[in-house]
Amino acid sequence: MRTIEDLDVAGQRVFVRADLNVPLDGDRITDDGRIRAALPTITRLRERGARVVVAAHLGRPKGAPDPKYSLRPVAARLGELLGTEVAFAEDTAGDSARAVTGALTDGGVALLENLRFEPGETSKDDAERGAFADRLAALADLYVGDGFGAVHRRHASVYDLPSRLPHAVGGLILAEVEVLRRLTGEPERPYAVVLGGSKVSDKLGVIDNLLGTADRLLIGGGMVFTFLKAKGYEVGSSLLEADQLDTVRGYLDRAEKEGVEIVLPVDVVAAEAFSADAPHADVDADAIPADRMGLDIGPRSRELFAAKLADARTVFWNGPMGVFEMEPYSHGTRALAQALIDSGAFTVVGGGDSAAAVRALGFDEDAFGHISTGGGASLEYLEGKALPGIEALDD
Ligand code: 3PG
Repeated sequence: MRTIEDLDVAGQRVFVRADLNVPLDGDRITDDGRIRAALPTITRLRERGARVVVAAHLGRPKGAPDPKYSLRPVAARLGELLGTEVAFAEDTAGDSARAVTGALTDGGVALLENLRFEPGETSKDDAERGAFADRLAALADLYVGDGFGAVHRRHASVYDLPSRLPHAVGGLILAEVEVLRRLTGEPERPYAVVLGGSKVSDKLGVIDNLLGTADRLLIGGGMVFTFLKAKGYEVGSSLLEADQLDTVRGYLDRAEKEGVEIVLPVDVVAAEAFSADAPHADVDADAIPADRMGLDIGPRSRELFAAKLADARTVFWNGPMGVFEMEPYSHGTRALAQALIDSGAFTVVGGGDSAAAVRALGFDEDAFGHISTGGGASLEYLEGKALPGIEALDD
């Protein structure tokens, strides 16, 4: 794979597909980790005299402009971090994009509006995606793929555009892949994986794969209630994916046969409603009252999970243990982050949500081995799936 050092970028317009999908509160960016992660590649290209055309998506708009998902606040933050003005195109490949990219000078930076404002970006139809990729290709001379968080998406800017321009892989994707290779190769053992987040259905492929590679699987977050129910416990009004119960029972059986230890919480914080102010209490995992919902793992589980990580040599963590954005349900995620640090293992935090949680809870990012910018992308990599955005750069 060519890297950016192999491209002759001076005076050329270089299209950089980044992942700038940051959490927003109105137009305030609540975690700029992904913007910061995009800086080294952009800076290196500028140093070498490139005219940098940055493009990305934000959220999941439905193929039409929606002010709620505008990348304008991201352009402002990117400019602050780079210490230069970032010209903002009001569209993705229209008059504004042509004018803004055409006016770039050497070392200049522009950001296009949210690529998902165009139906062609995410279309399942090859021709529709290809037509949009053609329009994007007209804006640049060279292409650099560096949006690791989006490489699992077969989207126009990720998958179709590279074949239309001389292309290279950016430093962020290279760094992310190098770390994930350590996990799929021969991880130092014990190798523990912690999975959280709300949906078990998002994690099926990776669980399937991990049952063959990990030594221990610790499960928390909303997805754990499907596991508890599969074990025969009542879960009250907690999140439950009833259609996944058979699959999860299958995993529990397989784990036992393959000698993979599955660690589930022994207690949970159960609340009367999905609210920080709702009455809540610690209850045993097999005694969740019918009218309560579990919103975090409980204190005994925090200790149990820490003990199960203490001797691990490699840990991968994806997904918060509870609703960490609400203080009463943040303790599980906080304790888990601390347990990763205390383990002294090689630790990888995967995913937008878990990475944002670690920062929101005030942890020092350097205390972890690696904080990935990709949630779905890192899971699909661990699953062993081919990633379209990496395949497209590989020629
Ligand atoms: C992410 O947030 O994981 C990436 O930016 C990809 O976003 P998507 O899941 O909406 O494709």
